[in-house]
Amino acid sequence: MTPLNRVRGGFHEAGYTVQGVRELLGPVAGGALARDEIVPALRVTGGGSPLEALTRLFWLQVPVPDEALPGLADHLVAAGLAARSGRELRAMVHIEPLESGSAHLGFVVSDPKVRPGSGMVLAPDHVVGGGGASANLAGLVVHGPVDSVLDLGTGSGVQALHLAGRAARICATDVNPRALELARVSLALSGVEQVELLEGSLFEPVRDRTFDLIVANPPFVISPDTARFSYRESGLPGDEVCRRLVVEAPRHLGDGGWCQLLANWLHVEGEPWQERVGRWADEAGCDAWVVQRDVQDPAEYAELWLRDSCEVGTPEYQRRYDAWLESFERSKVEGVGFGWITLRKGGSRTVRIEELRQAVEQPVGAYAADVVGGFADGAELPWRLDWSDVILKTADGVVQEQTGPPGAEDPERIVLRQTGRLRRAAGVGTVEAALAGVCDGTLPLGPLLAAIAQLLDLPLSDVEAHAQAVLPELVADGFFEISDFG
Ligand SMILES: C[S@@+](CC[C@H](N)C(=O)[O-])C[C@H]1O[C@@H](n2cnc3c(N)ncnc32)[C@H](O)[C@@H]1O
Repeated sequence: MTPLNRVRGGFHEAGYTVQGVRELLGPVAGGALARDEIVPALRVTGGGSPLEALTRLFWLQVPVPDEALPGLADHLVAAGLAARSGRELRAMVHIEPLESGSAHLGFVVSDPKVRPGSGMVLAPDHVVGGGGASANLAGLVVHGPVDSVLDLGTGSGVQALHLAGRAARICATDVNPRALELARVSLALSGVEQVELLEGSLFEPVRDRTFDLIVANPPFVISPDTARFSYRESGLPGDEVCRRLVVEAPRHLGDGGWCQLLANWLHVEGEPWQERVGRWADEAGCDAWVVQRDVQDPAEYAELWLRDSCEVGTPEYQRRYDAWLESFERSKVEGVGFGWITLRKGGSRTVRIEELRQAVEQPVGAYAADVVGGFADGAELPWRLDWSDVILKTADGVVQEQTGPPGAEDPERIVLRQTGRLRRAAGVGTVEAALAGVCDGTLPLGPLLAAIAQLLDLPLSDVEAHAQAVLPELVADGFFEISDFG
């Protein structure tokens, strides 16, 4: 048995899981730790149990007495995860358990965290562990079993760990050799075996290969020092790394394959962001769903990443901040968009670019394929010459809201609202509202529109024309699903 296998056994015995640590810390210390404050966590982990010792050693990164981990300390040292200093153990790496839903997936091994005010500085090849962005990408990835996966820019291997339970083969790449070394340890410590690790930039290590799924949380940060930290900056100018990934990914996808990535894009004076990212999507030549979740102005953006690299309060802070603003000003950058890009190879090349600021149902990956399918169906509808045989179903979770003056016979405003998924809302007229009430996936549109025309006392031709004008968008937005094109 290798030292890493023995360590895994020891971690399990101690209950070193997300759930175990969450219960140990409780909400206050857990909340503080999420804000990078370790003092409350130190106060509740002083009891000396193996779980407390592992949490202090590998999560809080404080030394623990050797005897706190009897039977495990030697294996930790033999595996290179900890070092002895007198009668104390010191962590050589950061190790956090990983879960999805309530399932334990393994352990993410990364470089020790640099916390604000610690006086430590990030190394250029620093390898990050699982963070909020990793969790967002993992949540976005379409569900279901998959044969071959490319995890581009694997870092500590977190996406590979998320996918290991449902992918037959995973190829994980990174430009940083240290990242590949730590990914190898994460995977071995988690007992995951089907991952091939390759060194190289972007698609270069998989030049002639295709995959069913490509995932990437790339180094998308747009900064004046283009390659200061490899975990967040690619060395390419502006948002070029995201453009390259989008336009090159389809060459590495099998038919029907998916590529999903997190991205940043520039908002440049005089150029709507949708046009900029739209050009990437058009060049990709796939179905594409681009979602802007947030936009930051130049100052907010510079502050975010200076905080991320713990540079607040350092002598260099002001100069770097100024350099950031200067470079954005020179390029006429007004802001930076944050979001997701999903591509599906093949299909009708429907491109949807939109802003979604509301909280959406998680995980998005559970319904992302339906969303992209809905765009394609909505785009196809206007091309149908005869709609009368099309069968629609009002999507599950759609509710109707009506507002108007008290006592009024007719509502002033009708809204269809999705209570789940993307939680969209659409102001509609009486025809669509009536359709939402009767479309249950059994009767075709022809007789339904005739009945609605009669009920509302409107000419059938008007009702049909109205339906043809509004239904494609309501289908594309997921309010109605096409059960049968007829
Ligand atoms: C933000 S980290 C993502 C790590 C992990 N995949 C996740 O989801 O958290 C970006 C990773 O991309 C890697 N990277 C940077 N430039 C790259 C390039 N040109 N080609 C491939 N990977 C690169 C970095 O070394 C880093 O590990």
